[in-house]
Amino acid sequence: MNANDPKRKTRVTCAPSLASYLKEEVEALGFEVLSMDKTGVEIIASMEDCMMLNLRLRTAFHVLQRFADINCRNADELYSEAKRLPWDRVIDPAGFLSITSNVRNETITNSMFPNMRLKDAICDKLISASGKRPDSGSSTEGMVVHMHWVDNKARIYLNMTGRKLSDRGYRKMPFMAPMRETIAASVLMEMKYDGSKPLVVPMCGSGTIAIEAALIAKQRAPGLLRSNYACNNWLTSDKDAWTQQRADAKKLLAKKDPAPIIATDIEEDAIDASKKNAVTAGVDHLIDFHVCDFSETPMPSEVGDVVVHGEYGMRLGEDDDLVATYKRIGDFLKTDCAGWDGYVFTSGKPLIAAIRLKVARRTPFINAEIDCRLLRYELYKGTKVTEVLSN
Ligand SMILES: C[S@@+](CC[C@H](N)C(=O)[O-])C[C@H]1O[C@@H](n2cnc3c(N)ncnc32)[C@H](O)[C@@H]1O
Repeated sequence: MNANDPKRKTRVTCAPSLASYLKEEVEALGFEVLSMDKTGVEIIASMEDCMMLNLRLRTAFHVLQRFADINCRNADELYSEAKRLPWDRVIDPAGFLSITSNVRNETITNSMFPNMRLKDAICDKLISASGKRPDSGSSTEGMVVHMHWVDNKARIYLNMTGRKLSDRGYRKMPFMAPMRETIAASVLMEMKYDGSKPLVVPMCGSGTIAIEAALIAKQRAPGLLRSNYACNNWLTSDKDAWTQQRADAKKLLAKKDPAPIIATDIEEDAIDASKKNAVTAGVDHLIDFHVCDFSETPMPSEVGDVVVHGEYGMRLGEDDDLVATYKRIGDFLKTDCAGWDGYVFTSGKPLIAAIRLKVARRTPFINAEIDCRLLRYELYKGTKVTEVLSN
Protein backbone atom coordinates (compact mmCIF):
# COMPACT_ATOMS: atom_id res chain seq x y z
CA MET A 1 0.00 0.00 0.00
CA ASN A 2 1.23 3.50 -0.85
CA ALA A 3 1.50 5.41 2.46
CA ASN A 4 0.84 8.69 0.63
CA ASP A 5 -2.34 7.28 -0.88
CA PRO A 6 -4.22 5.45 1.88
CA LYS A 7 -7.27 3.33 1.11
CA ARG A 8 -10.49 4.86 2.35
CA LYS A 9 -14.14 3.98 2.36
CA THR A 10 -15.41 5.07 -1.04
CA ARG A 11 -18.92 5.37 -2.43
CA VAL A 12 -19.48 4.81 -6.13
CA THR A 13 -22.85 6.21 -7.21
CA CYS A 14 -25.15 5.40 -10.12
CA ALA A 15 -28.65 6.13 -11.40
CA PRO A 16 -31.53 4.33 -9.66
CA SER A 17 -31.98 0.80 -11.13
CA LEU A 18 -28.34 0.40 -12.16
CA ALA A 19 -26.73 -0.62 -8.83
CA SER A 20 -26.59 -4.37 -9.60
CA TYR A 21 -24.72 -3.66 -12.89
CA LEU A 22 -22.37 -1.29 -11.10
CA LYS A 23 -21.71 -3.95 -8.44
CA GLU A 24 -20.87 -6.47 -11.16
CA GLU A 25 -18.43 -4.03 -12.78
CA VAL A 26 -16.76 -3.01 -9.52
CA GLU A 27 -16.31 -6.65 -8.48
CA ALA A 28 -14.90 -7.54 -11.90
CA LEU A 29 -12.23 -4.87 -11.23
CA GLY A 30 -11.26 -6.74 -8.05
CA PHE A 31 -13.01 -4.69 -5.34
CA GLU A 32 -15.07 -6.16 -2.53
CA VAL A 33 -18.47 -4.49 -2.35
CA LEU A 34 -19.13 -3.76 1.34
CA SER A 35 -22.71 -2.62 0.80
CA MET A 36 -25.11 -1.73 -1.98
CA ASP A 37 -28.25 0.42 -2.09
CA LYS A 38 -30.47 1.83 -4.83
CA THR A 39 -27.97 4.43 -6.02
CA GLY A 40 -24.54 3.02 -5.34
CA VAL A 41 -22.05 0.70 -3.73
CA GLU A 42 -19.45 1.12 -1.01
CA ILE A 43 -15.89 -0.17 -1.40
CA ILE A 44 -12.42 0.56 -0.02
CA ALA A 45 -10.24 2.45 -2.48
CA SER A 46 -7.11 4.57 -2.74
CA MET A 47 -7.01 7.70 -4.88
CA GLU A 48 -5.22 5.71 -7.59
CA ASP A 49 -8.02 3.12 -7.44
CA CYS A 50 -10.48 5.99 -7.93
CA MET A 51 -8.58 7.03 -11.06
CA MET A 52 -8.94 3.50 -12.42
CA LEU A 53 -12.66 3.46 -11.59
CA ASN A 54 -13.16 6.79 -13.37
CA LEU A 55 -11.53 5.45 -16.49
CA ARG A 56 -13.12 2.00 -16.63
CA LEU A 57 -16.63 2.04 -15.15
CA ARG A 58 -19.48 2.12 -17.67
CA THR A 59 -22.49 2.32 -15.32
CA ALA A 60 -21.35 4.76 -12.58
CA PHE A 61 -21.99 8.46 -11.97
CA HIS A 62 -19.39 9.50 -9.38
CA VAL A 63 -16.57 8.06 -7.30
CA LEU A 64 -16.67 9.71 -3.86
CA GLN A 65 -13.88 9.17 -1.35
CA ARG A 66 -15.00 9.57 2.24
CA PHE A 67 -13.28 12.50 4.00
CA ALA A 68 -15.08 12.91 7.33
CA ASP A 69 -18.28 12.32 9.28
CA ILE A 70 -19.52 15.19 11.39
CA ASN A 71 -22.38 15.68 13.81
CA CYS A 72 -24.34 18.86 13.20
CA ARG A 73 -27.93 19.81 14.00
CA ASN A 74 -28.00 23.02 11.97
CA ALA A 75 -25.96 25.14 9.56
CA ASP A 76 -24.01 26.91 12.33
CA GLU A 77 -22.86 23.57 13.71
CA LEU A 78 -22.07 22.41 10.18
CA TYR A 79 -19.83 25.48 9.79
CA SER A 80 -18.00 25.07 13.10
CA GLU A 81 -17.51 21.29 12.79
CA ALA A 82 -16.47 21.47 9.12
CA LYS A 83 -13.95 24.23 9.94
CA ARG A 84 -12.11 21.83 12.25
CA LEU A 85 -11.33 19.40 9.41
CA PRO A 86 -7.84 19.30 7.83
CA TRP A 87 -8.82 20.99 4.55
CA ASP A 88 -5.33 22.42 4.13
CA ARG A 89 -4.09 18.87 3.41
CA VAL A 90 -6.36 18.36 0.40
CA ILE A 91 -7.57 21.68 -1.03
CA ASP A 92 -5.32 23.45 -3.49
CA PRO A 93 -5.76 27.20 -2.79
CA ALA A 94 -4.81 27.90 -6.40
CA GLY A 95 -7.60 25.65 -7.68
CA PHE A 96 -11.38 26.02 -8.07
CA LEU A 97 -13.83 24.63 -5.49
CA SER A 98 -17.48 23.68 -5.72
CA ILE A 99 -19.81 22.07 -3.20
CA THR A 100 -22.65 19.67 -3.99
CA SER A 101 -25.02 18.12 -1.47
CA ASN A 102 -28.08 16.05 -0.64
CA VAL A 103 -29.60 17.43 2.54
CA ARG A 104 -32.49 16.21 4.69
CA ASN A 105 -32.45 18.33 7.83
CA GLU A 106 -35.48 20.14 9.26
CA THR A 107 -33.60 23.39 9.86
CA ILE A 108 -32.63 23.69 6.18
CA THR A 109 -35.17 25.18 3.80
CA ASN A 110 -32.87 26.68 1.17
CA SER A 111 -30.87 23.91 -0.51
CA MET A 112 -28.00 26.29 -1.43
CA PHE A 113 -27.46 27.48 2.15
CA PRO A 114 -25.63 24.40 3.51
CA ASN A 115 -23.34 24.42 0.44
CA MET A 116 -22.48 28.03 1.14
CA ARG A 117 -21.79 27.38 4.85
CA LEU A 118 -19.58 24.40 4.03
CA LYS A 119 -17.69 26.44 1.42
CA ASP A 120 -17.23 29.25 3.99
CA ALA A 121 -15.92 26.77 6.57
CA ILE A 122 -13.38 25.36 4.08
CA CYS A 123 -12.22 28.77 2.84
CA ASP A 124 -12.03 30.33 6.33
CA LYS A 125 -9.94 27.38 7.50
CA LEU A 126 -7.57 27.79 4.56
CA ILE A 127 -7.24 31.53 5.05
CA SER A 128 -6.32 31.04 8.70
CA ALA A 129 -3.78 28.33 7.68
CA SER A 130 -2.10 30.00 4.69
CA GLY A 131 -3.83 33.28 3.91
CA LYS A 132 -5.04 31.84 0.60
CA ARG A 133 -8.32 30.32 -0.58
CA PRO A 134 -9.51 28.85 -3.87
CA ASP A 135 -12.03 30.52 -6.16
CA SER A 136 -15.42 28.88 -5.88
CA GLY A 137 -18.67 28.50 -7.79
CA SER A 138 -21.01 25.96 -9.29
CA SER A 139 -18.75 24.52 -12.02
CA THR A 140 -17.74 20.94 -11.23
CA GLU A 141 -14.59 21.13 -13.37
CA GLY A 142 -12.26 21.70 -10.38
CA MET A 143 -12.30 20.23 -6.83
CA VAL A 144 -15.76 19.06 -5.80
CA VAL A 145 -16.67 18.45 -2.15
CA HIS A 146 -19.90 16.46 -1.75
CA MET A 147 -21.98 16.39 1.44
CA HIS A 148 -24.67 13.88 2.34
CA TRP A 149 -26.46 15.33 5.38
CA VAL A 150 -29.39 13.52 7.01
CA ASP A 151 -30.84 14.76 10.35
CA ASN A 152 -27.79 15.51 12.50
CA LYS A 153 -25.16 13.49 10.63
CA ALA A 154 -23.26 14.87 7.67
CA ARG A 155 -20.87 12.73 5.66
CA ILE A 156 -18.31 14.69 3.64
CA TYR A 157 -16.73 13.22 0.52
CA LEU A 158 -14.03 14.31 -1.88
CA ASN A 159 -15.58 13.78 -5.31
CA MET A 160 -12.94 12.10 -7.46
CA THR A 161 -14.94 12.38 -10.68
CA GLY A 162 -16.34 15.90 -11.10
CA ARG A 163 -18.83 15.88 -13.94
CA LYS A 164 -20.86 12.63 -14.04
CA LEU A 165 -19.16 9.66 -15.69
CA SER A 166 -22.26 9.23 -17.86
CA ASP A 167 -21.10 12.39 -19.59
CA ARG A 168 -18.53 10.50 -21.64
CA GLY A 169 -17.88 13.42 -23.96
CA TYR A 170 -18.85 11.79 -27.27
CA ARG A 171 -22.47 12.89 -27.42
CA LYS A 172 -21.99 16.35 -28.86
CA MET A 173 -25.15 15.85 -30.94
CA PRO A 174 -28.10 14.53 -28.94
CA PHE A 175 -31.16 13.65 -31.01
CA MET A 176 -34.60 13.58 -29.37
CA ALA A 177 -35.02 11.60 -26.11
CA PRO A 178 -31.57 10.04 -26.02
CA MET A 179 -30.89 7.22 -23.60
CA ARG A 180 -28.31 8.07 -20.96
CA GLU A 181 -24.94 6.43 -21.72
CA THR A 182 -24.86 4.54 -18.39
CA ILE A 183 -28.34 3.07 -19.03
CA ALA A 184 -27.34 1.99 -22.53
CA ALA A 185 -24.26 0.26 -21.06
CA SER A 186 -26.42 -1.46 -18.41
CA VAL A 187 -28.94 -2.60 -21.04
CA LEU A 188 -26.07 -4.15 -22.99
CA MET A 189 -24.76 -5.81 -19.80
CA GLU A 190 -28.25 -7.22 -19.18
CA MET A 191 -28.16 -8.57 -22.77
CA LYS A 192 -24.72 -10.09 -22.02
CA TYR A 193 -23.46 -8.33 -25.15
CA ASP A 194 -19.75 -8.88 -25.80
CA GLY A 195 -19.35 -8.19 -29.51
CA SER A 196 -19.11 -11.85 -30.53
CA LYS A 197 -22.50 -11.80 -32.33
CA PRO A 198 -24.05 -9.16 -34.61
CA LEU A 199 -26.03 -6.36 -32.97
CA VAL A 200 -28.84 -4.51 -34.71
CA VAL A 201 -30.22 -1.24 -33.31
CA PRO A 202 -33.24 0.05 -35.27
CA MET A 203 -34.60 3.46 -34.12
CA CYS A 204 -31.07 4.29 -32.93
CA GLY A 205 -31.67 8.04 -32.33
CA SER A 206 -28.31 9.64 -31.47
CA GLY A 207 -26.63 6.23 -31.54
CA THR A 208 -25.98 5.75 -27.82
CA ILE A 209 -26.70 1.99 -27.68
CA ALA A 210 -24.64 1.23 -30.78
CA ILE A 211 -21.73 3.43 -29.60
CA GLU A 212 -21.72 1.94 -26.09
CA ALA A 213 -21.81 -1.52 -27.69
CA ALA A 214 -18.77 -0.74 -29.83
CA LEU A 215 -16.92 0.56 -26.75
CA ILE A 216 -17.78 -2.63 -24.82
CA ALA A 217 -16.87 -4.92 -27.72
CA LYS A 218 -13.47 -3.20 -28.13
CA GLN A 219 -13.00 -3.24 -24.32
CA ARG A 220 -12.29 0.44 -24.68
CA ALA A 221 -12.21 2.20 -21.30
CA PRO A 222 -15.02 4.79 -21.66
CA GLY A 223 -13.28 7.28 -19.38
CA LEU A 224 -10.46 7.74 -21.89
CA LEU A 225 -12.86 9.81 -24.00
CA ARG A 226 -12.58 12.82 -21.71
CA SER A 227 -9.69 14.35 -19.84
CA ASN A 228 -10.96 16.34 -16.86
CA TYR A 229 -11.51 14.39 -13.65
CA ALA A 230 -11.66 15.86 -10.17
CA CYS A 231 -9.13 13.26 -8.92
CA ASN A 232 -6.44 15.34 -10.64
CA ASN A 233 -7.35 18.63 -9.00
CA TRP A 234 -6.71 17.94 -5.29
CA LEU A 235 -3.52 18.96 -3.51
CA THR A 236 -2.82 15.24 -2.98
CA SER A 237 -3.27 14.35 -6.67
CA ASP A 238 -0.55 12.24 -8.25
CA LYS A 239 0.13 13.04 -11.93
CA ASP A 240 2.38 10.00 -12.42
CA ALA A 241 -0.29 7.65 -11.09
CA TRP A 242 -2.82 9.21 -13.48
CA THR A 243 -0.47 8.81 -16.47
CA GLN A 244 0.08 5.18 -15.49
CA GLN A 245 -3.65 4.50 -15.09
CA ARG A 246 -4.41 6.00 -18.50
CA ALA A 247 -1.63 3.94 -20.09
CA ASP A 248 -2.96 0.77 -18.41
CA ALA A 249 -6.51 1.54 -19.56
CA LYS A 250 -5.31 2.01 -23.16
CA LYS A 251 -3.74 -1.45 -23.11
CA LEU A 252 -7.18 -3.03 -22.57
CA LEU A 253 -8.20 -2.27 -26.16
CA ALA A 254 -9.13 -5.51 -28.00
CA LYS A 255 -7.28 -6.07 -31.27
CA LYS A 256 -10.19 -7.91 -32.88
CA ASP A 257 -13.12 -5.95 -34.24
CA PRO A 258 -16.61 -7.00 -33.13
CA ALA A 259 -19.26 -8.77 -35.21
CA PRO A 260 -21.29 -6.27 -37.29
CA ILE A 261 -23.13 -3.49 -35.48
CA ILE A 262 -25.97 -1.99 -37.53
CA ALA A 263 -27.81 1.16 -36.45
CA THR A 264 -30.78 2.66 -38.34
CA ASP A 265 -33.29 5.48 -37.90
CA ILE A 266 -36.01 6.96 -40.06
CA GLU A 267 -34.69 10.50 -39.49
CA GLU A 268 -31.68 11.62 -41.47
CA ASP A 269 -30.82 14.09 -38.69
CA ALA A 270 -30.64 11.22 -36.20
CA ILE A 271 -28.21 9.28 -38.38
CA ASP A 272 -26.13 12.45 -38.94
CA ALA A 273 -25.96 12.96 -35.16
CA SER A 274 -25.16 9.27 -34.58
CA LYS A 275 -22.33 9.32 -37.11
CA LYS A 276 -20.80 12.46 -35.58
CA ASN A 277 -21.07 10.99 -32.09
CA ALA A 278 -19.50 7.72 -33.24
CA VAL A 279 -16.60 9.66 -34.81
CA THR A 280 -16.04 11.52 -31.52
CA ALA A 281 -16.12 8.18 -29.67
CA GLY A 282 -13.64 6.73 -32.18
CA VAL A 283 -15.93 3.83 -33.14
CA ASP A 284 -17.50 5.03 -36.42
CA HIS A 285 -15.62 2.35 -38.40
CA LEU A 286 -17.35 -0.35 -36.33
CA ILE A 287 -20.97 0.74 -36.94
CA ASP A 288 -22.97 0.53 -40.16
CA PHE A 289 -25.52 3.38 -40.24
CA HIS A 290 -28.61 3.56 -42.48
CA VAL A 291 -31.56 5.93 -42.81
CA CYS A 292 -34.69 3.75 -43.05
CA ASP A 293 -37.90 2.69 -41.40
CA PHE A 294 -37.06 0.13 -38.70
CA SER A 295 -38.78 -2.60 -40.72
CA GLU A 296 -36.31 -2.05 -43.59
CA THR A 297 -33.24 -2.50 -41.39
CA PRO A 298 -30.72 -4.69 -43.24
CA MET A 299 -30.20 -7.81 -41.13
CA PRO A 300 -26.86 -9.68 -41.22
CA SER A 301 -27.09 -13.35 -42.23
CA GLU A 302 -25.61 -14.57 -38.94
CA VAL A 303 -28.06 -14.19 -36.02
CA GLY A 304 -27.36 -12.03 -32.96
CA ASP A 305 -29.18 -9.46 -30.81
CA VAL A 306 -31.66 -6.83 -31.94
CA VAL A 307 -32.57 -4.03 -29.50
CA VAL A 308 -35.29 -1.43 -30.10
CA HIS A 309 -35.62 1.75 -28.03
CA GLY A 310 -38.62 3.36 -29.64
CA GLU A 311 -40.65 6.30 -28.53
CA TYR A 312 -43.07 5.85 -25.65
CA GLY A 313 -45.97 7.76 -24.10
CA MET A 314 -44.78 10.10 -21.39
CA ARG A 315 -41.62 10.81 -23.32
CA LEU A 316 -42.42 11.63 -26.90
CA GLY A 317 -46.11 11.52 -27.78
CA GLU A 318 -49.25 9.77 -26.72
CA ASP A 319 -49.40 6.01 -26.23
CA ASP A 320 -52.43 5.69 -28.54
CA ASP A 321 -50.46 7.04 -31.50
CA LEU A 322 -47.73 4.56 -30.80
CA VAL A 323 -49.75 1.35 -30.51
CA ALA A 324 -49.69 0.87 -34.30
CA THR A 325 -45.90 1.32 -34.35
CA TYR A 326 -45.48 -1.26 -31.58
CA LYS A 327 -47.70 -3.71 -33.51
CA ARG A 328 -45.31 -3.25 -36.44
CA ILE A 329 -42.32 -3.72 -34.10
CA GLY A 330 -43.86 -7.05 -33.02
CA ASP A 331 -44.30 -8.09 -36.67
CA PHE A 332 -40.74 -7.04 -37.52
CA LEU A 333 -39.30 -9.07 -34.63
CA LYS A 334 -41.39 -12.11 -35.53
CA THR A 335 -40.77 -12.17 -39.25
CA ASP A 336 -37.43 -10.42 -39.90
CA CYS A 337 -35.62 -11.39 -36.71
CA ALA A 338 -36.54 -15.08 -36.42
CA GLY A 339 -33.70 -16.90 -34.66
CA TRP A 340 -32.42 -13.69 -33.03
CA ASP A 341 -32.61 -12.57 -29.40
CA GLY A 342 -34.96 -9.58 -29.44
CA TYR A 343 -35.09 -6.77 -26.90
CA VAL A 344 -37.46 -3.82 -26.59
CA PHE A 345 -36.81 -0.99 -24.12
CA THR A 346 -40.10 0.75 -23.42
CA SER A 347 -42.72 1.85 -20.92
CA GLY A 348 -46.46 1.26 -20.58
CA LYS A 349 -48.67 -1.81 -20.72
CA PRO A 350 -50.60 -0.89 -23.91
CA LEU A 351 -47.37 -0.64 -25.90
CA ILE A 352 -45.99 -3.89 -24.50
CA ALA A 353 -49.30 -5.65 -25.26
CA ALA A 354 -49.26 -4.29 -28.82
CA ILE A 355 -46.05 -6.23 -29.57
CA ARG A 356 -48.07 -9.47 -29.23
CA LEU A 357 -45.08 -11.71 -28.49
CA LYS A 358 -44.38 -13.81 -25.39
CA VAL A 359 -42.00 -11.95 -23.08
CA ALA A 360 -39.19 -14.21 -21.87
CA ARG A 361 -37.81 -11.71 -19.33
CA ARG A 362 -38.69 -8.23 -18.07
CA THR A 363 -35.94 -6.17 -16.46
CA PRO A 364 -36.95 -2.88 -14.79
CA PHE A 365 -35.00 0.31 -15.53
CA ILE A 366 -35.66 3.94 -14.68
CA ASN A 367 -34.91 6.23 -17.61
CA ALA A 368 -35.41 9.98 -17.22
CA GLU A 369 -37.53 9.27 -14.11
CA ILE A 370 -39.90 7.00 -16.08
CA ASP A 371 -40.40 3.35 -15.08
CA CYS A 372 -39.29 1.36 -18.10
CA ARG A 373 -38.75 -2.31 -18.93
CA LEU A 374 -36.22 -4.10 -21.05
CA LEU A 375 -38.29 -6.90 -22.57
CA ARG A 376 -36.53 -9.97 -23.89
CA TYR A 377 -38.07 -12.09 -26.64
CA GLU A 378 -36.81 -15.46 -27.82
CA LEU A 379 -37.59 -15.26 -31.51
CA TYR A 380 -37.54 -18.88 -32.58
CA LYS A 381 -37.47 -19.74 -36.23
CA GLY A 382 -40.60 -21.54 -37.48
CA THR A 383 -38.49 -24.59 -38.24
CA LYS A 384 -37.39 -24.80 -34.61
CA VAL A 385 -41.01 -25.05 -33.42
CA THR A 386 -41.60 -27.83 -35.97
CA GLU A 387 -38.51 -29.68 -34.78
CA VAL A 388 -39.66 -29.43 -31.14
CA LEU A 389 -43.13 -30.69 -32.10
CA SER A 390 -41.80 -33.63 -34.11
CA ASN A 391 -39.53 -34.86 -31.26
C1 LIG B 1 -36.40 7.20 -28.10
S1 LIG B 1 -35.57 7.60 -29.57
C2 LIG B 1 -34.15 6.55 -29.52
C3 LIG B 1 -33.09 7.11 -28.64
C4 LIG B 1 -31.76 6.38 -28.73
N1 LIG B 1 -31.75 5.14 -28.01
C5 LIG B 1 -30.66 7.30 -28.21
O1 LIG B 1 -30.03 6.99 -27.21
O2 LIG B 1 -30.46 8.37 -28.78
C6 LIG B 1 -36.56 6.84 -30.78
C7 LIG B 1 -36.06 7.00 -32.21
O3 LIG B 1 -36.94 6.26 -33.06
C8 LIG B 1 -36.95 6.90 -34.34
N2 LIG B 1 -38.13 6.41 -35.08
C9 LIG B 1 -39.43 6.71 -34.89
N3 LIG B 1 -40.21 6.05 -35.76
C10 LIG B 1 -39.39 5.29 -36.53
C11 LIG B 1 -39.59 4.37 -37.60
N4 LIG B 1 -40.81 4.10 -38.05
N5 LIG B 1 -38.51 3.76 -38.11
C12 LIG B 1 -37.26 4.05 -37.66
N6 LIG B 1 -37.01 4.93 -36.67
C13 LIG B 1 -38.06 5.53 -36.10
C14 LIG B 1 -36.97 8.36 -34.01
O4 LIG B 1 -36.48 9.12 -35.11
C15 LIG B 1 -36.06 8.41 -32.76
O5 LIG B 1 -34.75 8.74 -33.14
